[in-house]
Amino acid sequence: MKVTPKTVMLGLLIVGLSVISAIYLIYFISNGGGVDLQAGRKFAESNCSRCHAIGPTGASPLDPAVPFRTFAERWPLETLEEALAEGIFTGHPAMPEFELTPQQIRNFIGYLKTIQQ
Ligand code: HEC
Repeated sequence: MKVTPKTVMLGLLIVGLSVISAIYLIYFISNGGGVDLQAGRKFAESNCSRCHAIGPTGASPLDPAVPFRTFAERWPLETLEEALAEGIFTGHPAMPEFELTPQQIRNFIGYLKTIQQ
């Protein structure tokens, strides 16, 4: 094949696309299969929003329940993630019991990260 500017461009394009997909793949794997922020928010909405403010603004419907966006101010989110994963997060008397799969935990923590102040 003759090397023309066109083949050089094509070569660069192929290399570029491979690099992008490799980066994306690494990102995907390091995320443990991807985080579904939408699902994380849904979980908070259906299980926690009765009492907690779960969004970036607003007060909690139940006064003593801390707004989710202030969690990171109080303790590292990793602590909550670990507690959820190990099933030792019993929460508080008013809080319903719930069980989460590792994927649900990642989604939920991922969502929490997006709203922290
Ligand atoms: C029925 C009301 C209610 C629901 C539903 C509820 N919470 Fe709470 N939550 C509270 C109250 C009240 C407090 C603060 C008083 C306390 O710690 O007992 C609190 C505190 C917390 C704390 C801080 C605990 C600490 O040690 O300071 C976390 C974390 C928390 N909630 C997470 C959640 C999550 C996650 C959900 C949803 C899966 C949820 N809560 C659902 C009422 C609720």
